[in-house]
This record gives sequence, C-alpha cells and structure tokens, in this order.
Amino acid sequence: MTLSRRSILGLSVPLCSALALKAQEAKSNTEKLPRKWGAAPTAEFAPQRVILGWTGDPAHTQAITWRTDKRAETPQVQFAPASANPDFVSGAATVPAKAGSLDVGEGRTVGTYRANLQGLKPDTHYLYRAGDGKNWGEWFEFHTASDQPQKFRFLYVGDAQNDIKSRWSRVIRAAYAKAPNSAFIIHAGDLVASGYRDDLWGEWYDSMEFIAATIPSLAVVGNHELEKPAGTPKSLALPAIWKQEFAYPQNGPGLPENESYYFDYQGVRFLSLNVNLLENEKNFDANRPAIGQMVAWVDKALDNNPNRWTIVTQHQGMYSMAEKRNYVKMREMLLPTYEKYGVDLVLQGHDHLYARSHKIAGGKVVAGDARGIVYMISVSGPKMYEVTPTFEPLMAKVIPHTQMFQTIDVDQNKLVLRAYSPESEQLDGFQLEKKGGHSIYSELPKTETADAAVE
Ligand SMILES: [Fe+2]
Repeated sequence: MTLSRRSILGLSVPLCSALALKAQEAKSNTEKLPRKWGAAPTAEFAPQRVILGWTGDPAHTQAITWRTDKRAETPQVQFAPASANPDFVSGAATVPAKAGSLDVGEGRTVGTYRANLQGLKPDTHYLYRAGDGKNWGEWFEFHTASDQPQKFRFLYVGDAQNDIKSRWSRVIRAAYAKAPNSAFIIHAGDLVASGYRDDLWGEWYDSMEFIAATIPSLAVVGNHELEKPAGTPKSLALPAIWKQEFAYPQNGPGLPENESYYFDYQGVRFLSLNVNLLENEKNFDANRPAIGQMVAWVDKALDNNPNRWTIVTQHQGMYSMAEKRNYVKMREMLLPTYEKYGVDLVLQGHDHLYARSHKIAGGKVVAGDARGIVYMISVSGPKMYEVTPTFEPLMAKVIPHTQMFQTIDVDQNKLVLRAYSPESEQLDGFQLEKKGGHSIYSELPKTETADAAVE
C-alpha cells in the first residue's frame, strides 16, 4: 500500500486534531454545495441504466431512457451544446420525461423514464444528464446525425447472451476502444439469455456502462429475448423491459408480437426485423397471416427507400451455419423481397460463430459485380456452436470459437466491414463499392493493418 501525500501529512499531527480538521473541511464543503457544486443523488433516485436510442430522426432527435429504484416525481433531462467551459450547465434546456413503472420481480418495482429531445441541430455534439430536478446523474454526451448522406462508422455485435458481465464485457470495451466515434451499435439479438430476467439485463448494463449512455443501441429481437422463466409457457411476447428500455421508431408492421422498425442514417436505411415468427416452422401455418403482414411491411419499407444503401438486421440466419438449422420458410418468405429491392448486407446472430458469405443471389454465389447480397453471422459472447457444412460453400470466411465485434464504415460510394477479435486483431473484412444501382464486392487486401483500418 502506498501512502498519499495527505495521509503522510496526517501522521505528523495528532490524530484528534487531524480528524477535527477533516470534519471542519467536510462541513464547509457541504455548506458550499448548494451554491456551486451539485450534490450526489440519493441512492433511490440515482439514474441507472441510462441508454440512448431513437424514436425519431437521428439528425434532430435523441431518446434517453433510464430508471431509478424509487419512482421520481419530476423526471427530466437537461441538455446543452457541448463546451469545454464547465459553465455549459447554465445554458442547459430542460425537457420533462415520461414516467412508468416496471415490475422487475422479487417484489421490486422500479421507476422508468424516457425523454425525447427534439429540434436538435444535425451533426452536433451535445451534453445531457438525467434526473428529477434535484437528483442528477453525470453529464453524458451524444452526437446527432448529419441530415445529409455522409461518411460514418457503426458497430455490429452478435449474441452477448451468456456470462455477460464475466466474459462479454471485454468485447464491448474492445469495440469501444477501436471505434469510440461510432454513430450507434447494432445488437443482432440474444443480448441476454432470458429477456424476462432483470438480473441478466443488469449484467448487460454493467458491461455497457457509459457506452450505453453515449452511443445509441439499436437492437433486434432474438429468440432469447422471448425466453421466459422455467415453467412458464413459451410465446412470442416480448418482455416489458425490452419495450421500456430500448427506444426505436414505432414504424413497424403493427403486429402485437412483432417489434420491427426501420430508420435512416446518413444515406443508409437500416431495417431491424424480428423474424421469430419464422423460426419454428411447425407453427408456420398458424402464423401465416402475421407472417404475411410482416413481409408486406418489409416490402413497403424497402420500396419506399430514398437511401443508396440498405442494411437489414435479423437474429436468425438466412443461411444458418449451426447444426440442425435451416430456415427454409424464412428464405422463401423474405429472400425474394430482399433481392428485389437490392438489400446490400444482412447482419445476423443466433449461430454462435462467425460466418461471412460471398455475394449471393438466388441461393448461389455470384460474381462480385453482379446483383446480390452479403450475409453475415457473428457472435460477441462466450457461448459457441460447432460449424455445420450445409451452407459452407456460400461462405467466404468462417471463424468458430472466437468472440468478435465488427466495425462498418459507410460513405455514399463505399461500405467497408472489418471484423475483430477482442484483442483488436483484424480477422476478416470486405468492401462493397457502389457503381450505378448495385455494388462491387471484394475482399479487403490482406496487407491492410488494423491501424490503417481506422480512417
Ligand atoms: Fe443465441
């Protein structure tokens, strides 16, 4: 143990006078607090699980969600343009938040809150804090999107799911260290092993920590989000915690058991599709009307798309690489629509391995300059599955037993995806270059180093 300067000095004076001095110092600090320095929030009203998302346009809005142990009377957010001058606080605007309650089990109910900031300036750095007017969390930062198609970077991670705090946290930290200026993070489903368990979400937030509060998280629903406590009948119903904590546009197909949405970010349409309806093919006939409604919605969302790029996120893989998985009906129902509208890339999870396809059309590998789609499966958590060879001929790269994260850079003409290990070693990469209406696919040069990758 090393002694600080303060403790060394303390040893040179009698103990009682040192304690008295300390008490006096503390008292005078307390007296000053209300005038200049904010007091720490009381534990029951301290904002927890602060997370960013969007329900509206990312260039002009920002949704902020949090919770407290005890329900606050006047939940609110303060925000201001970022400044190095600490007096930015005096110019902060206040926005009230909508409050709700969430039963988190074991007799506990917490207060949940969502503030939706509107009228923000595009491409601008802001600071904000959540609280109730008296109890405040720290000032976090966010950056609004540009309202023009412009180059940006985002992160994509597959299933976190198991041992989240213990063995997933290192991956999300590495992802943040590699790409701290990411516009958002796409979580491709199965963020936790059981969406109904608050303690697992607690691990997820403990791992995400300030990253959740500074980079928006856009998540797609996996099968494990629907996983209920043992003994409870399975259904496609999403837990309340998902709906209350993740902010996403309410522009989905309007099905009670399907949370899908799309949003546009600087020249890219992102479509997040809950394909759980298509996972169990035994239920296909029973789910047929809902599936039809979902596919009609996908068709509309892809048809009415002014962006040059289109990226779909879904949990279950179109060309699954894990044992006993082959979603025939999913391909039958969705592939024609994806191919018709020229989707560029499909980001998936579920198989607990890494698999990245060549360019594919009609179930076959096509030339790099032909019309087609690249499909990816990735995993960020520690649970791993073995590779099954069914669709291996379609894959350009398969990496088993490796926790991974991906950065994706997009500008008007080029999309570059790089896949990394938690040690930030670049393990895979490819690019798509737009030429006219479609893209030219190529592998990244083998000589490219991880450092050169950060543009
Ligand atoms: Fe999973």
